[in-house]
Amino acid sequence: MRIYRNSTLALALLVVGGCSSGPSTSTVPASTPTSAPAVTEAQATQTAKETFQQFGETLKAELKKAISEGGPVSAVEVCHTRAPQIAEEISKARGFPMGRSSHRLRNQNNAPDEDIARYLEKYSGSGKEAPVEAVSTDGGWTVIAPIVTQPLCVTCHGDPKTFSPELTQALNKYYPNDKATGFKPGDLRGVFWARI
Ligand code: HEC
Repeated sequence: MRIYRNSTLALALLVVGGCSSGPSTSTVPASTPTSAPAVTEAQATQTAKETFQQFGETLKAELKKAISEGGPVSAVEVCHTRAPQIAEEISKARGFPMGRSSHRLRNQNNAPDEDIARYLEKYSGSGKEAPVEAVSTDGGWTVIAPIVTQPLCVTCHGDPKTFSPELTQALNKYYPNDKATGFKPGDLRGVFWARI
């Protein structure tokens, strides 16, 4: 793939892609043998990281506010409604899909695709620090970045025995198949992904 890179073209496409509000599919047909990725790996990684940061900061600010104002139970409501919305808002504004996923899901709608599943399998049990990776897909890139469990996160992703009955009930209400508990600070909780 590397030999087909053309940074001027890629940059132009990146700018156009960033402004387009249409569907986020690649403009370069994947089957064309000479098709280059629309952006270089470095550009895709940089752009993806910006959206990951934006998602993380937006959600974390709303989570903290909800926890301090109404406790973890109301923060579950916030996470339930706002997390998918924030992903959609950023995807729309940027013109490519992005979101979160995990090897142990709370919301099945966040299920990983093949590339992301491979990444999660490789790093979830390894104890090694997971890197930011870009996988070449369909004339573009799937950029994947680790989400590491922080102390704040174990409030809702830690040992269920530490949860209040109200929190357990709120989680059960939305997520009867919740697999996203039992994490400790430092564990790989999941990933951000973007398809650029
Ligand atoms: C107030 C409870 C709460 C806290 C605190 C919390 N989460 Fe979550 N988390 C949730 C809920 C609820 C969902 C499901 C959101 C949805 O429906 O999309 C979720 C989903 C996720 C997902 C998406 C993958 C999946 O399993 O569906 C990741 C990744 C994640 N959380 C990471 C974190 C990290 C990292 C932190 C700490 C910075 C954190 N969470 C703090 C409640 C919480």
